[in-house]
Amino acid sequence: MEKLTIRDADVAGKRVFVRVDFNVPLADGKVTDDSRIRAAIPTINYLLQNGARLVLASHLGRPDGKVSDSLRLRPVGLRLTELLRRNVPVTGDALGVGTEDAIKRLRPGELILLENLRFHAEEERNDPEFAAKLASYADVYVNDAFGTAHRAHASTVGVAKLLPAYAGLLMERELEALSSLLESPSKPFAAILGGAKVSDKIDVIDNLLTKVDMLILGGGMANTFLLAQGKAVGKSLAEPDRVDDARRILETAERKGVRVILPVDVIVAKEVTRGTEYKTLPAEKIPASWHIVDLGKASQEQILEALADARTVFWNGPLGVFEIPSFAHGTNAVARMLAEAAEKGATVVIGGGDSVAAIIQQGLADKMTHISTGGGASLEFLEGRELPGVSVLPDRAPALTETPA
Ligand code: 3PG
Repeated sequence: MEKLTIRDADVAGKRVFVRVDFNVPLADGKVTDDSRIRAAIPTINYLLQNGARLVLASHLGRPDGKVSDSLRLRPVGLRLTELLRRNVPVTGDALGVGTEDAIKRLRPGELILLENLRFHAEEERNDPEFAAKLASYADVYVNDAFGTAHRAHASTVGVAKLLPAYAGLLMERELEALSSLLESPSKPFAAILGGAKVSDKIDVIDNLLTKVDMLILGGGMANTFLLAQGKAVGKSLAEPDRVDDARRILETAERKGVRVILPVDVIVAKEVTRGTEYKTLPAEKIPASWHIVDLGKASQEQILEALADARTVFWNGPLGVFEIPSFAHGTNAVARMLAEAAEKGATVVIGGGDSVAAIIQQGLADKMTHISTGGGASLEFLEGRELPGVSVLPDRAPALTETPA
């Protein structure tokens, strides 16, 4: 169901509370990946250009209701200031008289960023008084924080119930891109899933098995599938208590005619560290004391062949120990394959996390159809679950169709 968006709102002269997801990585007090900040800019600019007074709000990290100087939003404010080329002050606290005064002083076309909402435990508890306080700052509520839409917090759900609420332009784009995967994917549709643990992905695999033609598995989670096929995985990351789930998934896939692609050869390493000894082996010959750390060349070839005629691809999760450059080849190769698939006209959607990092590092971001700003949120959406921060936003009324006289 489509949501009302900021294009439906009258914001001129109004105070608008905009929930953004500026939960970005920091190092040495600087933002190291500003994708989420950039992704919110169309909404911010639209609202400013239409004469709104903006109160931006976000969480950063998990400070658990306590003030943590390393999780202050100042570096984010500085980056946003650079990107917008206008000053974005950050309040000292999300609450308090100073913050209230600063918001009252905002003029049309001006903005302010509240300090980290999660310095207050009430945010994650969706505390009604905290939500009412935040709502008192504004006349209109906008949610552009797709990455946090799977959390039922004060700023994602509580405030939305107290003010006229609208989806931001990023939220709209995310919902369109991810819904199209579930509702009307062009076929063949391939899902590529990696990452450490299969336990995090079981629900999404179950739902995607009803939609996809191919399921390509890699990373630590594929090891549990190798165990389910009776292969040894040595000291590799695996979840023996999930072997039954993996077996059930393989059986369901076979029954539904979904092709499952598992690694046929892998890079194995003595230790999961930089500078360790490593070699390529067939997936059925893993020695007891070695770790699987990446896809081998034959596994990459197999994926390339499988993707040759794919019209839709969804990818989430690295296919090896991506943080260590020697073990990032499989993940990087798949990123390049997807850029090519997109260039040939396939719809390619990337769901958050390290798969996005691989794409950005190789300068391939512009080639993809959509890169989600939500890791956990995009997976929950593709599990077929309602995201609380989305369901609370009002639906657009269906267009009236003329009935014949
Ligand atoms: C994310 O990075 O996935 C979102 O910002 C949500 O953060 P959280 O997992 O700490 O709620």
